[in-house]
Amino acid sequence: MLEPSAARSTAEVRPAIRVTDLVRNYTRPRTSLLRPAPVIHALRGVSLEVQEGERFGIVGESGCGKSTLLRIIAALDRATSGQAVVEGTDITRLPERRLKFLRENLQLVFQDPMSSLDPRMRVRDIIAEPLVVQGHPASGDRVRSLLESVGLSADAGDRYPHQFSGGQRQRISIARALAPRPRILIADEPVSALDVSVRAQVLNLISDLVDELNLTLIFVSHDLSVIKHVCDRVAVMNAGEIVETGPTGTVYATPTHPYTRRLVSSIPTLPRALAGATTSDLLKGAPT
Ligand SMILES: Nc1ncnc2c1ncn2[C@@H]1O[C@H](COP(=O)(O)OP(=O)(O)OP(=O)(O)O)[C@@H](O)[C@H]1O
Ligand SMILES: [Mg+2]
Repeated sequence: MLEPSAARSTAEVRPAIRVTDLVRNYTRPRTSLLRPAPVIHALRGVSLEVQEGERFGIVGESGCGKSTLLRIIAALDRATSGQAVVEGTDITRLPERRLKFLRENLQLVFQDPMSSLDPRMRVRDIIAEPLVVQGHPASGDRVRSLLESVGLSADAGDRYPHQFSGGQRQRISIARALAPRPRILIADEPVSALDVSVRAQVLNLISDLVDELNLTLIFVSHDLSVIKHVCDRVAVMNAGEIVETGPTGTVYATPTHPYTRRLVSSIPTLPRALAGATTSDLLKGAPT
């Protein structure tokens, strides 16, 4: 079994993450000498707060800026302007050498486990790598207990990623993310690339581990019904902006923004969402 992260006193709930007026513009290469380089406004002034221990969802269709926002919170990308504060530290302009606390305390799980796992490494080394990189001991016992916590047998450690199914590979990514005992887990569409038959299992696994380990979760999906299954609160994004934030049940039951209304009215049942309908597919049939 894995131990929960350091106990929190309920008296001092503080934001794990606070983002203020975040803007990220990308400049595309010029296509003509006569015209200026095109600018993509991926984030147009995003503000949000995620409390410690909260399960926070971000929903919106493809290209609305979800991954850009996560990359800035994880300091994998830099904001054009605005501020991102993680556990009380403004990380927006910190140099990499000052980001050790973030590299340990905040971990990510991505959509496609195949491209995020090194195919030449054995699973036990993949899981131990974040510990080794940060100068911590990575005992065989720790790796075995991580494998067990994601429902894989201890001998899985001897094999390579290609010897596993997509769902099992995502379990390996989750074990790897949990290895440094993070307090914050960020999952960017963690089940959308998986076979329909295993999506619900991996979703439940993430949900159970977040509970067991007392983690703060940011969970991104293009599908509100998947978010509803996992998150307490949700921010709805559209074209680089947050258009609505609130408790998941409230946003779902009484959406106030027209875009959210469209999202909600187009919502499939969880089984249909898990079967892979995209937001854009669903919006096609929704009233405007
Ligand atoms: N490195 C980059 N260079 C140029 N444009 C980028 C870059 N990264 C993202 N963009 C653009 O910024 C916008 C937001 O992209 P982002 O990946 O954040 O969207 P998303 O909501 O995660 O979409 P998806 O659901 O498809 O993953 C898109 O128009 C995208 O093309
Ligand atoms: Mg994305």
